[in-house]
Amino acid sequence: MPLTQTIPGQPKRPRRLRSSAAMRELIAETTLEPRQLIAPFFVIPGSDREEPIKTLPGVSRLSVDKLLAQLERALSVGVRAVILFGVVPGEKKTPTGSSAADPRGPVAEALRAARRAFGNDLVLMTDVCLCGYTDHGHCGLLAQSSRGTVIDNDSSLTRLAEMALMHAEAGADMVAPSDMMDGRIGAIRRALDDAGHSDVGVLSYAVKYASAFYGPFREAAGSAPSQGTEHHELTPPKDRKSYQMDSRNAREALRETQLDEAEGADMLMVKPALAYLDIISRVRAASHLPLVAYNVSGEYAMIKAAAAAGALDEALAVRESLLAMRRAGADMIISYHALDALEAGWL
Ligand code: PBG
Repeated sequence: MPLTQTIPGQPKRPRRLRSSAAMRELIAETTLEPRQLIAPFFVIPGSDREEPIKTLPGVSRLSVDKLLAQLERALSVGVRAVILFGVVPGEKKTPTGSSAADPRGPVAEALRAARRAFGNDLVLMTDVCLCGYTDHGHCGLLAQSSRGTVIDNDSSLTRLAEMALMHAEAGADMVAPSDMMDGRIGAIRRALDDAGHSDVGVLSYAVKYASAFYGPFREAAGSAPSQGTEHHELTPPKDRKSYQMDSRNAREALRETQLDEAEGADMLMVKPALAYLDIISRVRAASHLPLVAYNVSGEYAMIKAAAAAGALDEALAVRESLLAMRRAGADMIISYHALDALEAGWL
């Protein structure tokens, strides 16, 4: 059939709107801008230290001085927010995570240094969780119950609130509890308000699934559950399934969202991102709070490994997956790809 003729009954042609790069730019529904990315960093004690993380190629644990250079880099590519994770050596880890609220710890030092260096140009967020500070690697404290060793909810809240308060005092704009204890948003909100930090926000990891995709992070932070057990008579559970969510559940995500909103969360997070795009979409529809997706370590490592094996184009795969999170409804994305991708112009 000649090109000038129309197939009868075929007046509607979606391809018209894909006909050139300019047309596609005009039509695109989803945006991805530097200001929507949050860069994560692992902070260690000391100075002039940079420890590459084997399972996260391209990512290193950094001492505060090295971190400052990376924060400078973040600002230069248009990133406006970072989230800090503290990593302490094994000998600092105790059953109760006593160094989690140490005002001389790496996160506190990093907050003070970053505030001095950058004023209010960067939004400083911190991860609040005990797993990097407990010798058993759980996100809460252990207790003995009739069912054996359990992760005790309410005693954990006190320590988490102390940790959040310490971060606020060191200069955090926003604390992000990732422990999944019940009631922690309320406990942290109260502790901050009582100490005069009503201006410090709480980003809740409200919807956090027990996931295989955190594997590389646990190597980075030395926080796999049930690592060292010398202090413990009974072996604690080897997974986080008694506090992180079951990946088969979606309604439960909305329940967690509602509870955390009621307890005073300022922003919500869904984590991981790629295997949970349906959850991002449902939480987006159920809440008016800003929503963050966490493009977690395992998602990053998968793309890196596939790209290194020549199986896919890293730039295209990173762009497509970050856009998918935005399309699903995330306002912001925490991603280990952020700085490299922006610098290389992949987005
Ligand atoms: C701490 C925490 C974890 C992650 C963020 N905060 C690990 C976990 O819950 O085991 C995972 C982040 C990632 O995989 O990139 N609880």
